[in-house]
Amino acid sequence: MTRKSVGVAVIGAGMAGRAHAAGYRSAGTVFDADGPEARLVSVVDTNEALAQDARQRYGFARAESDWRAIVAADDVDAVSVVVANHLHREIIEALLAAGKHVLCEKPLAPSLADARAMAAAADDATTVAAVGYTYRRSPAMSAIRDHVHNGHLGRPIHFNGHAWYDYALDPLTPMSWRYKGGPGTGALADVGSHMVDTAEYVCGPVVEVSGAVLTTVIDERPVPAGVTLGHERGELTGEVEPVENEDLATFTARFENGAVGTFSVSRVAHGLPNGLAFEVFGSAGSAAFDLQRAGEFQVTDSSPRGEVNGQRRVYVGPAHPYLRRGVPMDAPGVGYGTGDLFVYQARAFLDQIVGLDHLPPCPSFHDAVRGLEVLDAVVESARGGGVAVKIA
Ligand SMILES: NC(=O)c1ccc[n+]([C@@H]2O[C@H](COP(=O)([O-])OP(=O)(O)OC[C@H]3O[C@@H](n4cnc5c(N)ncnc54)[C@H](O)[C@@H]3O)[C@@H](O)[C@H]2O)c1
Repeated sequence: MTRKSVGVAVIGAGMAGRAHAAGYRSAGTVFDADGPEARLVSVVDTNEALAQDARQRYGFARAESDWRAIVAADDVDAVSVVVANHLHREIIEALLAAGKHVLCEKPLAPSLADARAMAAAADDATTVAAVGYTYRRSPAMSAIRDHVHNGHLGRPIHFNGHAWYDYALDPLTPMSWRYKGGPGTGALADVGSHMVDTAEYVCGPVVEVSGAVLTTVIDERPVPAGVTLGHERGELTGEVEPVENEDLATFTARFENGAVGTFSVSRVAHGLPNGLAFEVFGSAGSAAFDLQRAGEFQVTDSSPRGEVNGQRRVYVGPAHPYLRRGVPMDAPGVGYGTGDLFVYQARAFLDQIVGLDHLPPCPSFHDAVRGLEVLDAVVESARGGGVAVKIA
Protein backbone atom coordinates (compact mmCIF):
# COMPACT_ATOMS: atom_id res chain seq x y z
CA MET A 1 0.00 0.00 0.00
CA THR A 2 1.36 3.47 -0.86
CA ARG A 3 0.82 5.90 1.98
CA LYS A 4 0.00 9.49 1.16
CA SER A 5 2.57 12.02 2.31
CA VAL A 6 1.82 15.31 4.09
CA GLY A 7 4.57 17.91 4.63
CA VAL A 8 4.21 19.41 8.12
CA ALA A 9 5.58 22.46 9.92
CA VAL A 10 5.19 23.63 13.50
CA ILE A 11 5.20 27.38 14.22
CA GLY A 12 6.25 27.95 17.84
CA ALA A 13 8.73 25.65 19.60
CA GLY A 14 7.79 26.52 23.18
CA MET A 15 5.99 24.37 25.75
CA ALA A 16 3.15 23.19 23.53
CA GLY A 17 4.98 23.50 20.17
CA ARG A 18 7.34 20.70 21.15
CA ALA A 19 4.34 18.52 21.97
CA HIS A 20 2.99 19.14 18.44
CA ALA A 21 6.40 18.32 16.91
CA ALA A 22 6.61 15.10 18.91
CA GLY A 23 3.00 14.29 17.98
CA TYR A 24 3.70 14.42 14.24
CA ARG A 25 6.81 12.30 14.70
CA SER A 26 4.78 9.47 16.26
CA ALA A 27 1.46 9.89 14.39
CA GLY A 28 2.23 7.13 11.88
CA THR A 29 3.09 4.60 14.61
CA VAL A 30 -0.44 4.33 16.02
CA PHE A 31 -3.74 2.81 14.79
CA ASP A 32 -4.23 1.50 11.22
CA ALA A 33 -1.28 1.43 8.83
CA ASP A 34 -3.25 3.35 6.16
CA GLY A 35 -2.62 6.77 7.72
CA PRO A 36 -0.57 9.34 5.83
CA GLU A 37 3.17 9.73 6.30
CA ALA A 38 4.01 13.00 8.08
CA ARG A 39 7.07 14.50 6.36
CA LEU A 40 8.69 16.57 9.12
CA VAL A 41 9.68 19.69 7.16
CA SER A 42 10.18 22.68 9.45
CA VAL A 43 10.05 24.02 13.01
CA VAL A 44 9.76 27.80 13.27
CA ASP A 45 10.48 30.00 16.27
CA THR A 46 11.72 33.58 16.56
CA ASN A 47 14.09 32.09 19.11
CA GLU A 48 16.46 30.37 16.66
CA ALA A 49 18.19 28.21 19.28
CA LEU A 50 14.84 26.81 20.33
CA ALA A 51 13.83 26.09 16.74
CA GLN A 52 17.14 24.32 16.13
CA ASP A 53 16.77 22.30 19.32
CA ALA A 54 13.27 21.12 18.35
CA ARG A 55 14.35 20.43 14.76
CA GLN A 56 17.11 18.14 15.98
CA ARG A 57 15.14 16.43 18.77
CA TYR A 58 12.11 15.58 16.67
CA GLY A 59 13.82 14.99 13.34
CA PHE A 60 12.55 17.90 11.23
CA ALA A 61 14.49 18.90 8.10
CA ARG A 62 14.65 22.66 8.72
CA ALA A 63 14.64 25.21 11.54
CA GLU A 64 13.44 28.71 10.63
CA SER A 65 12.79 31.97 12.43
CA ASP A 66 10.11 33.64 10.30
CA TRP A 67 6.67 32.04 9.89
CA ARG A 68 6.28 33.78 6.50
CA ALA A 69 8.77 31.25 5.11
CA ILE A 70 6.16 28.56 5.79
CA VAL A 71 3.42 30.50 4.00
CA ALA A 72 5.65 30.49 0.90
CA ALA A 73 7.03 26.93 1.26
CA ASP A 74 5.92 24.52 -1.49
CA ASP A 75 6.94 21.47 0.54
CA VAL A 76 4.65 22.30 3.49
CA ASP A 77 1.01 21.17 3.34
CA ALA A 78 -0.07 21.32 6.99
CA VAL A 79 0.91 23.64 9.83
CA SER A 80 0.45 23.69 13.60
CA VAL A 81 0.29 27.25 14.96
CA VAL A 82 1.51 27.08 18.56
CA VAL A 83 2.38 30.63 19.56
CA ALA A 84 0.78 33.16 21.94
CA ASN A 85 -2.95 33.60 21.36
CA HIS A 86 -2.75 37.19 20.07
CA LEU A 87 -0.48 36.01 17.22
CA HIS A 88 -2.82 33.28 15.93
CA ARG A 89 -5.05 35.35 13.64
CA GLU A 90 -2.45 36.94 11.38
CA ILE A 91 -0.54 33.68 10.92
CA ILE A 92 -3.63 31.51 10.41
CA GLU A 93 -5.21 33.86 7.87
CA ALA A 94 -1.98 34.00 5.85
CA LEU A 95 -1.61 30.21 5.93
CA LEU A 96 -5.23 29.59 4.89
CA ALA A 97 -4.91 32.10 2.05
CA ALA A 98 -1.83 30.20 0.87
CA GLY A 99 -3.80 26.92 0.78
CA LYS A 100 -2.28 25.28 3.88
CA HIS A 101 -4.13 22.97 6.27
CA VAL A 102 -3.95 24.47 9.77
CA LEU A 103 -4.14 23.17 13.32
CA CYS A 104 -4.41 26.23 15.59
CA GLU A 105 -3.84 26.06 19.33
CA LYS A 106 -6.60 27.01 21.74
CA PRO A 107 -8.11 29.46 22.41
CA LEU A 108 -8.44 30.44 18.76
CA ALA A 109 -7.91 34.14 19.59
CA PRO A 110 -8.03 36.54 22.55
CA SER A 111 -11.29 38.09 21.30
CA LEU A 112 -14.51 36.74 19.88
CA ALA A 113 -14.28 39.20 16.96
CA ASP A 114 -10.87 37.83 15.92
CA ALA A 115 -12.07 34.24 16.33
CA ARG A 116 -15.16 34.90 14.17
CA ALA A 117 -12.98 36.47 11.46
CA MET A 118 -10.74 33.38 11.56
CA ALA A 119 -13.79 31.09 11.24
CA ALA A 120 -14.93 33.12 8.21
CA ALA A 121 -11.46 32.72 6.67
CA ALA A 122 -11.69 28.96 7.31
CA ASP A 123 -15.09 28.87 5.59
CA ASP A 124 -13.56 30.53 2.52
CA ALA A 125 -10.71 28.01 2.41
CA THR A 126 -10.84 24.50 0.96
CA THR A 127 -8.29 23.13 3.42
CA VAL A 128 -8.76 21.65 6.92
CA ALA A 129 -8.91 24.21 9.76
CA ALA A 130 -8.72 22.47 13.13
CA VAL A 131 -8.27 23.54 16.77
CA GLY A 132 -6.05 21.92 19.42
CA TYR A 133 -8.50 20.97 22.15
CA THR A 134 -6.23 18.09 23.03
CA TYR A 135 -8.26 16.75 25.96
CA ARG A 136 -10.94 15.55 23.56
CA ARG A 137 -8.34 12.86 22.74
CA SER A 138 -8.15 11.66 26.34
CA PRO A 139 -9.15 7.97 26.51
CA ALA A 140 -10.74 8.41 29.97
CA MET A 141 -12.63 11.63 29.11
CA SER A 142 -13.81 10.11 25.84
CA ALA A 143 -14.96 6.97 27.68
CA ILE A 144 -17.03 9.15 30.03
CA ARG A 145 -18.44 11.08 27.10
CA ASP A 146 -19.52 7.81 25.43
CA HIS A 147 -21.03 6.69 28.75
CA VAL A 148 -23.09 9.90 28.99
CA HIS A 149 -24.09 9.90 25.31
CA ASN A 150 -25.13 6.23 25.42
CA GLY A 151 -27.55 7.11 28.23
CA HIS A 152 -25.83 5.03 30.94
CA LEU A 153 -26.09 7.90 33.46
CA GLY A 154 -29.73 8.57 32.62
CA ARG A 155 -30.65 12.22 32.27
CA PRO A 156 -27.66 14.53 32.98
CA ILE A 157 -28.44 16.70 36.02
CA HIS A 158 -25.21 18.38 37.12
CA PHE A 159 -21.74 18.90 35.62
CA ASN A 160 -19.13 20.24 38.04
CA GLY A 161 -15.78 21.18 36.53
CA HIS A 162 -12.62 22.72 37.84
CA ALA A 163 -9.40 23.61 36.06
CA TRP A 164 -7.03 24.26 38.94
CA TYR A 165 -3.41 25.07 38.11
CA ASP A 166 -0.65 26.58 40.25
CA TYR A 167 1.67 28.03 37.61
CA ALA A 168 0.97 31.67 38.54
CA LEU A 169 0.88 31.35 42.32
CA ASP A 170 4.53 32.33 42.78
CA PRO A 171 4.69 36.16 42.49
CA LEU A 172 8.14 35.69 40.91
CA THR A 173 6.69 33.81 37.95
CA PRO A 174 7.73 36.32 35.28
CA MET A 175 5.53 38.45 33.08
CA SER A 176 4.62 36.77 29.77
CA TRP A 177 1.94 36.94 27.08
CA ARG A 178 -0.32 34.93 29.45
CA TYR A 179 -0.74 37.96 31.76
CA LYS A 180 -1.57 40.51 29.02
CA GLY A 181 -4.99 41.39 27.55
CA GLY A 182 -8.24 42.41 29.21
CA PRO A 183 -10.65 40.49 31.45
CA GLY A 184 -11.22 36.95 30.22
CA THR A 185 -7.79 36.55 28.59
CA GLY A 186 -6.15 35.17 31.75
CA ALA A 187 -6.97 31.90 33.53
CA LEU A 188 -10.35 31.86 31.80
CA ALA A 189 -8.82 31.80 28.30
CA ASP A 190 -5.82 29.68 29.18
CA VAL A 191 -7.29 26.83 31.24
CA GLY A 192 -10.99 27.78 31.33
CA SER A 193 -11.16 27.29 27.53
CA HIS A 194 -10.15 23.64 28.04
CA MET A 195 -12.67 23.29 30.87
CA VAL A 196 -15.59 24.68 28.85
CA ASP A 197 -14.64 22.60 25.80
CA THR A 198 -14.49 19.49 28.00
CA ALA A 199 -17.89 20.31 29.55
CA GLU A 200 -19.51 20.75 26.13
CA TYR A 201 -17.77 17.63 24.82
CA VAL A 202 -19.20 15.54 27.66
CA CYS A 203 -22.54 17.23 28.36
CA GLY A 204 -23.51 19.19 25.21
CA PRO A 205 -23.92 22.92 24.56
CA VAL A 206 -23.94 25.51 27.37
CA VAL A 207 -26.81 27.95 26.77
CA GLU A 208 -26.57 30.33 29.73
CA VAL A 209 -23.94 31.56 32.18
CA SER A 210 -24.50 33.38 35.48
CA GLY A 211 -22.90 34.25 38.80
CA ALA A 212 -19.48 34.93 37.29
CA VAL A 213 -16.66 36.42 39.35
CA LEU A 214 -13.18 37.20 37.95
CA THR A 215 -10.37 37.88 40.42
CA THR A 216 -6.75 38.96 40.04
CA VAL A 217 -4.71 37.83 43.04
CA ILE A 218 -1.21 38.94 41.98
CA ASP A 219 -1.50 42.25 40.20
CA GLU A 220 2.07 42.82 39.00
CA ARG A 221 4.85 40.53 37.84
CA PRO A 222 8.60 40.84 37.32
CA VAL A 223 9.87 41.39 33.81
CA PRO A 224 12.16 38.58 32.61
CA ALA A 225 15.68 39.41 31.43
CA GLY A 226 15.53 36.90 28.58
CA VAL A 227 13.15 34.41 26.99
CA THR A 228 10.67 32.53 29.18
CA LEU A 229 8.90 29.44 27.96
CA GLY A 230 5.61 28.08 29.22
CA HIS A 231 5.59 28.80 32.96
CA GLU A 232 9.36 28.71 33.51
CA ARG A 233 11.16 31.00 35.95
CA GLY A 234 14.31 32.79 34.80
CA GLU A 235 16.52 35.80 35.30
CA LEU A 236 14.65 39.03 36.07
CA THR A 237 15.38 42.65 35.14
CA GLY A 238 14.20 44.16 38.44
CA GLU A 239 11.30 45.91 36.66
CA VAL A 240 7.65 44.95 37.20
CA GLU A 241 4.62 45.25 34.91
CA PRO A 242 0.91 45.16 35.75
CA VAL A 243 -1.06 41.94 35.27
CA GLU A 244 -3.96 42.74 32.93
CA ASN A 245 -6.22 39.72 33.39
CA GLU A 246 -7.71 37.31 35.94
CA ASP A 247 -6.00 34.63 38.02
CA LEU A 248 -9.28 33.01 39.04
CA ALA A 249 -12.80 32.73 37.58
CA THR A 250 -15.93 31.07 38.96
CA PHE A 251 -19.36 30.80 37.33
CA THR A 252 -22.46 28.67 36.98
CA ALA A 253 -24.11 27.57 33.75
CA ARG A 254 -27.07 25.81 32.17
CA PHE A 255 -26.73 23.21 29.45
CA GLU A 256 -29.17 22.79 26.58
CA ASN A 257 -30.15 19.37 28.00
CA GLY A 258 -31.31 21.06 31.22
CA ALA A 259 -28.27 20.11 33.35
CA VAL A 260 -26.74 22.69 35.69
CA GLY A 261 -23.02 23.48 35.46
CA THR A 262 -20.74 24.75 38.23
CA PHE A 263 -17.21 25.80 37.33
CA SER A 264 -14.04 27.25 38.78
CA VAL A 265 -10.79 27.88 36.93
CA SER A 266 -7.58 29.07 38.51
CA ARG A 267 -3.89 29.54 37.83
CA VAL A 268 -3.17 30.16 41.54
CA ALA A 269 -4.33 26.81 43.03
CA HIS A 270 -1.63 25.77 45.46
CA GLY A 271 -0.02 22.40 44.81
CA LEU A 272 -1.95 21.52 41.63
CA PRO A 273 0.25 21.68 38.52
CA ASN A 274 -2.33 20.13 36.21
CA GLY A 275 -5.61 19.87 38.09
CA LEU A 276 -8.37 19.68 35.50
CA ALA A 277 -11.18 17.50 36.85
CA PHE A 278 -14.93 17.06 36.59
CA GLU A 279 -17.89 15.11 37.89
CA VAL A 280 -21.10 14.51 35.96
CA PHE A 281 -24.20 13.33 37.80
CA GLY A 282 -27.22 11.87 36.01
CA SER A 283 -30.56 10.45 37.07
CA ALA A 284 -29.18 6.88 36.93
CA GLY A 285 -25.46 7.20 37.60
CA SER A 286 -22.40 9.39 37.77
CA ALA A 287 -18.86 9.61 36.40
CA ALA A 288 -15.76 11.50 37.50
CA PHE A 289 -12.30 12.22 36.06
CA ASP A 290 -9.16 13.90 37.38
CA LEU A 291 -6.31 14.67 34.97
CA GLN A 292 -3.80 14.06 37.77
CA ARG A 293 -4.90 10.39 37.67
CA ALA A 294 -5.31 10.26 33.89
CA GLY A 295 -5.29 6.46 33.62
CA GLU A 296 -8.55 5.95 35.48
CA PHE A 297 -12.05 7.29 35.98
CA GLN A 298 -14.85 6.69 38.47
CA VAL A 299 -18.43 5.59 37.88
CA THR A 300 -21.54 4.84 39.88
CA ASP A 301 -24.73 3.14 38.75
CA SER A 302 -27.29 0.85 40.31
CA SER A 303 -26.02 -2.44 38.89
CA PRO A 304 -23.95 -3.81 41.84
CA ARG A 305 -25.88 -5.36 44.77
CA GLY A 306 -26.83 -2.73 47.33
CA GLU A 307 -24.44 -3.84 50.07
CA VAL A 308 -21.41 -3.55 47.71
CA ASN A 309 -22.62 -0.63 45.62
CA GLY A 310 -20.55 2.55 45.55
CA GLN A 311 -18.18 4.52 43.36
CA ARG A 312 -16.06 2.17 41.19
CA ARG A 313 -12.61 2.94 39.80
CA VAL A 314 -12.15 1.91 36.16
CA TYR A 315 -8.60 1.60 34.83
CA VAL A 316 -8.48 2.60 31.17
CA GLY A 317 -7.17 0.09 28.65
CA PRO A 318 -7.72 -1.25 25.14
CA ALA A 319 -11.50 -1.44 25.75
CA HIS A 320 -11.61 2.36 25.86
CA PRO A 321 -11.28 4.96 23.09
CA TYR A 322 -7.83 5.47 21.49
CA LEU A 323 -5.88 2.88 23.48
CA ARG A 324 -6.08 -0.18 21.20
CA ARG A 325 -2.93 0.27 19.11
CA GLY A 326 -2.76 3.84 20.44
CA VAL A 327 0.21 3.00 22.67
CA PRO A 328 3.10 0.69 21.73
CA MET A 329 2.10 -1.84 24.44
CA ASP A 330 -1.69 -1.77 24.45
CA ALA A 331 -2.20 -4.02 27.46
CA PRO A 332 -4.89 -3.26 30.07
CA GLY A 333 -3.86 -0.75 32.74
CA VAL A 334 -0.61 0.49 31.15
CA GLY A 335 -1.90 4.07 31.10
CA TYR A 336 -0.96 6.94 28.82
CA GLY A 337 0.38 10.47 29.10
CA THR A 338 -0.39 13.94 27.78
CA GLY A 339 2.13 13.38 24.98
CA ASP A 340 -0.06 10.55 23.64
CA LEU A 341 -3.01 12.96 23.30
CA PHE A 342 -0.91 15.14 20.99
CA VAL A 343 -0.09 12.05 18.92
CA TYR A 344 -3.81 11.19 18.55
CA GLN A 345 -4.58 14.83 17.69
CA ALA A 346 -1.82 14.95 15.05
CA ARG A 347 -3.03 11.66 13.59
CA ALA A 348 -6.66 12.82 13.44
CA PHE A 349 -5.58 16.05 11.71
CA LEU A 350 -3.40 14.21 9.15
CA ASP A 351 -6.17 11.66 8.52
CA GLN A 352 -8.67 14.47 7.95
CA ILE A 353 -6.32 16.04 5.39
CA VAL A 354 -6.21 12.85 3.29
CA GLY A 355 -9.91 12.06 3.78
CA LEU A 356 -9.73 9.23 6.34
CA ASP A 357 -12.33 9.19 9.11
CA HIS A 358 -11.32 6.43 11.53
CA LEU A 359 -10.93 8.96 14.37
CA PRO A 360 -13.33 11.70 15.49
CA PRO A 361 -12.46 14.87 13.54
CA CYS A 362 -10.60 17.71 15.25
CA PRO A 363 -12.80 20.50 16.60
CA SER A 364 -13.50 23.11 13.91
CA PHE A 365 -12.97 26.87 14.09
CA HIS A 366 -16.76 27.17 14.56
CA ASP A 367 -16.58 24.79 17.57
CA ALA A 368 -13.86 27.05 18.99
CA VAL A 369 -15.96 30.18 18.39
CA ARG A 370 -18.79 28.52 20.36
CA GLY A 371 -16.47 27.91 23.30
CA LEU A 372 -15.33 31.54 23.14
CA GLU A 373 -18.97 32.68 23.16
CA VAL A 374 -19.34 30.90 26.51
CA LEU A 375 -16.15 32.55 27.84
CA ASP A 376 -17.39 35.92 26.57
CA ALA A 377 -20.67 35.37 28.43
CA VAL A 378 -18.67 34.66 31.61
CA VAL A 379 -16.90 38.03 31.24
CA GLU A 380 -20.21 39.80 30.56
CA SER A 381 -21.80 38.13 33.59
CA ALA A 382 -18.88 39.22 35.79
CA ARG A 383 -19.09 42.80 34.46
CA GLY A 384 -22.79 42.87 35.37
CA GLY A 385 -22.17 41.65 38.92
CA GLY A 386 -23.09 38.04 38.11
CA VAL A 387 -26.13 38.59 35.85
CA ALA A 388 -27.41 35.73 33.72
CA VAL A 389 -26.18 35.90 30.10
CA LYS A 390 -27.71 33.73 27.38
CA ILE A 391 -25.60 32.27 24.59
CA ALA A 392 -27.26 32.46 21.19
N1 LIG B 1 -3.49 22.10 24.04
C1 LIG B 1 -2.81 22.26 25.15
O1 LIG B 1 -2.85 21.43 26.05
C2 LIG B 1 -1.93 23.49 25.33
C3 LIG B 1 -0.98 23.53 26.36
C4 LIG B 1 -0.18 24.67 26.48
C5 LIG B 1 -0.34 25.74 25.61
N2 LIG B 1 -1.29 25.67 24.63
C6 LIG B 1 -1.46 26.79 23.67
O2 LIG B 1 -0.32 26.80 22.82
C7 LIG B 1 0.02 28.14 22.45
C8 LIG B 1 1.46 28.42 22.87
O3 LIG B 1 1.59 28.24 24.29
P1 LIG B 1 3.00 27.83 24.95
O4 LIG B 1 2.72 27.55 26.38
O5 LIG B 1 3.66 26.80 24.12
O6 LIG B 1 3.76 29.22 24.84
P2 LIG B 1 5.31 29.47 25.03
O7 LIG B 1 5.43 30.90 25.45
O8 LIG B 1 5.95 28.39 25.84
O9 LIG B 1 5.90 29.30 23.54
C9 LIG B 1 5.58 30.18 22.50
C10 LIG B 1 6.75 30.16 21.51
O10 LIG B 1 6.42 31.00 20.42
C11 LIG B 1 7.61 31.66 20.01
N3 LIG B 1 7.23 32.84 19.23
C12 LIG B 1 6.84 34.06 19.66
N4 LIG B 1 6.53 34.85 18.61
C13 LIG B 1 6.71 34.09 17.50
C14 LIG B 1 6.56 34.34 16.11
N5 LIG B 1 6.14 35.54 15.65
N6 LIG B 1 6.85 33.35 15.24
C15 LIG B 1 7.29 32.14 15.68
N7 LIG B 1 7.46 31.84 16.99
C16 LIG B 1 7.17 32.81 17.88
C17 LIG B 1 8.32 31.98 21.31
O11 LIG B 1 9.70 32.22 21.10
C18 LIG B 1 8.07 30.70 22.10
O12 LIG B 1 9.08 29.75 21.93
C19 LIG B 1 -1.02 29.04 23.15
O13 LIG B 1 -2.06 29.29 22.26
C20 LIG B 1 -1.51 28.17 24.31
O14 LIG B 1 -2.81 28.49 24.75
C21 LIG B 1 -2.07 24.57 24.47
